[in-house]
Amino acid sequence: MPDFIRGALSARGRTIIVMPSTTSDGQTSRIVSVVPKGAGVGAMREDIHYVVTEYGIAHLRGKTLAKRSLELINVAHPSFREKLLDQAVALGYLPEDQSRRSYRGLPYPEELEQTAVFDGQTAIVRPLKPTDEDLVRELFYSFSSKTLQQRFMTTRVLQPREERMSQVNIDYDLSMAFGVFLVRGSMTELIAVCEYERNPKNSSAEVSFAVRDDWQGKGVGTYMVNLLVRVGKSRNIKTFTADVLSTNVGMLNLFYRTGLDVSAKLEDDVYKISFDLVKEEEKVKEAG
Ligand SMILES: CC(C)(COP(=O)(O)OP(=O)(O)OC[C@H]1O[C@@H](n2cnc3c(N)ncnc32)[C@H](O)[C@@H]1OP(=O)(O)O)[C@@H](O)C(=O)NCCC(=O)NCCS
Repeated sequence: MPDFIRGALSARGRTIIVMPSTTSDGQTSRIVSVVPKGAGVGAMREDIHYVVTEYGIAHLRGKTLAKRSLELINVAHPSFREKLLDQAVALGYLPEDQSRRSYRGLPYPEELEQTAVFDGQTAIVRPLKPTDEDLVRELFYSFSSKTLQQRFMTTRVLQPREERMSQVNIDYDLSMAFGVFLVRGSMTELIAVCEYERNPKNSSAEVSFAVRDDWQGKGVGTYMVNLLVRVGKSRNIKTFTADVLSTNVGMLNLFYRTGLDVSAKLEDDVYKISFDLVKEEEKVKEAG
């Protein structure tokens, strides 16, 4: 193994370790927080670029210990992830307040990953993961004051880490969020996010959307609204709600263009939007 790694470290080389996430009986994770005492270690951690398991690809190159830990936990078998996260916190690799929500909810819904073309560029649209925190931060700090005002209805320019963590640590059940990613060589950019948070007491969910300024007006928002409607319907959400500034015509138009019955109640400067995910005629068909 070390010889293969040395070879892969040649100019423009990549070291890729491909392995099952558990032993063949499924009882032991092959991703561990520390190697057993006396175990032979054939590679330095900075020499490994990618680790691939049946749960995805961990991108390790150039990342901090904390990011590396999260990347690896993310490709471990789901039943070991929370324990690995606890161990990483105990070892000081991850902060004490690291959210565990993603590891307690439904499994990451791989089936919702898709590609879409915007302005001639192919984007990956997929549910957010805990490892997306840095990209979410970059997206937030790229927003113009107008976009911040429309999305958060404040003029604030800072995003607390807790807010970012709750955006990427979702349980894929009560909370769902998608990102639109552009991959350029080894660089990935996040250009938009949309999310819903279900009300646990009824079948409604609150939605929100934000597209990076230079990508607005290129169909990303329309795609995300239709995506959330589709996913919401398939998960038995009956009603979407949203608070939209009365001046935010672009967002209001997107809701109206779904063709669903949108009701808008103006309170101060904010429209309280609500719409049923099933059209009247579909409801009649279902009832019949
Ligand atoms: C509101 C917002 C989410 C809309 O996203 P978007 O990606 O700009 O939306 P779209 O590009 O799909 O649609 C916007 C307009 O561009 C048009 N459009 C869609 N595809 C297009 C394309 N390929 N080329 C040119 N125009 C296009 C649409 O017809 C629409 O026009 P309209 O406003 O006259 O109806 C986005 O502008 C945003 O992030 N705003 C700031 C945050 C915000 O307001 N969030 C909502 C709070 S819930």
